[in-house]
Amino acid sequence: MRKLWGGAFAEGSDALVDRFGQSIETDLRFWREDVLGSIAHARMLGETGILSLEEASHLVRGLETILSEGPQRLPRDVEDVHTAVEMRLGELEGEVAAKLHTARSRNDQVATDTRLVLRVRFDGLLGGVKRLQETLLAQGRRHKGALMPGCTHQQHAQPITLGYHLLAHFWALQRQGWRLENVVRVANYCPLGSAALAGTGFPIDRHATSQALGFTAPIPSALDATSDRSYVLDALHVCASLMLDLSRMAQELVVWSGPEFGFVRLADAVTTGSSIMPQKRNPDMAELVRGRAGRALGNWTAFAATMKALPLGYNRDTQDDKPGLFESIDLARDSLALVHLMVEGAEWQTRRMREACKGDFSTATDLADALAAGGMPFRQAHEVVGRAVRACIERGWTLDRLDAERLAIVAPEAPPEVLEALKAERSVRARESFGGTGPRAFGTQFRRAGLLLRREGFHEPY
Ligand code: ARG
Repeated sequence: MRKLWGGAFAEGSDALVDRFGQSIETDLRFWREDVLGSIAHARMLGETGILSLEEASHLVRGLETILSEGPQRLPRDVEDVHTAVEMRLGELEGEVAAKLHTARSRNDQVATDTRLVLRVRFDGLLGGVKRLQETLLAQGRRHKGALMPGCTHQQHAQPITLGYHLLAHFWALQRQGWRLENVVRVANYCPLGSAALAGTGFPIDRHATSQALGFTAPIPSALDATSDRSYVLDALHVCASLMLDLSRMAQELVVWSGPEFGFVRLADAVTTGSSIMPQKRNPDMAELVRGRAGRALGNWTAFAATMKALPLGYNRDTQDDKPGLFESIDLARDSLALVHLMVEGAEWQTRRMREACKGDFSTATDLADALAAGGMPFRQAHEVVGRAVRACIERGWTLDRLDAERLAIVAPEAPPEVLEALKAERSVRARESFGGTGPRAFGTQFRRAGLLLRREGFHEPY
């Protein structure tokens, strides 16, 4: 294995050491960022007179060639991508390549690369979040009148609509989009030029390289800049958090597509069959999204454990931030796309949802509310309705099908006008408080969601 160091060593390292220590396989995923960082560094070396302008322009020319030829030409028998790029540069530009590493270290380089690649990959995630939000909103509009049971404790609580339900997921994604953006905001500071841990005696211009790479500013302490990985933890955490939300949606699709619910039929494109049972339509993709949320969570905890108690200054432990980071980002990206596919192609069984609202006593609160609105203290109304529910169950009656005569039997305190309040449609329409299910409240929520969706970026959690 070819290395950038070795002068002080009499013998080469053990083959196992090379294998155990290499990061080239993972590093290739940010070869471009590594080259971009080097271009900014080389230009700055020329501008500050640390290298001659001619030397700098040779370096830049060679690095730009590497950018255009792509990673295929980079050597693989090396420790890491920094070595690979420098060696390829040597092949292209000759001896001057050995000057590129003036006033820099792999410690500041790798931290710079990681922050740059995070920015790019998170941009992709933000797009995925927007796309899923868009689908949820479109489906929410289409099904804003489709009654379904709303649950607490997984028990029918109060009727809602499918549209209302889908929009709740929209907000979960809005928050995650906002969090993703914030992670990028915090990560977008530049370590380049920190060198190994303590800066350099060369008159470098860290502000210039920071600006050239699109960072907000250089990080004030070289020691902090080379030691910190909290932005990786932030990124792993937000990926895990997003995956948890997606796993909750996935769980819903798994359960709803089963016969007990029968609330949704997933499209063929996202459904798989069984090798033995020909009738099966399995929601495997939803199950995998649900399951792999565990991996994203694991990546966060694994790297948090790695970071715990690490002393200041670069430690090789932190090399292992990247495999988990890439895995979590890939998982989040693919899961967003899969949930998008599942929701977009879902055949919602709205008749079945409406049926499920029948006879479930989920308008009991509306009856109590009606009595309370008529002046009865709510606590008393609650009691009256509780007794009425029990009386109905004993007689095999349901609230939504009571007539005046039966109402007088089960709840003699209630005037017949309250019968209206017992219909599920009416119940949904009646809740006009901000954030409620009523058509005006829903309209307000829907318009706010649409406004946020059309804006570039996320800006606000709500
Ligand atoms: N592969 C290393 C990493 O990802 C690059 C930095 C190596 N620095 C060092 N001093 N060995 O962290």
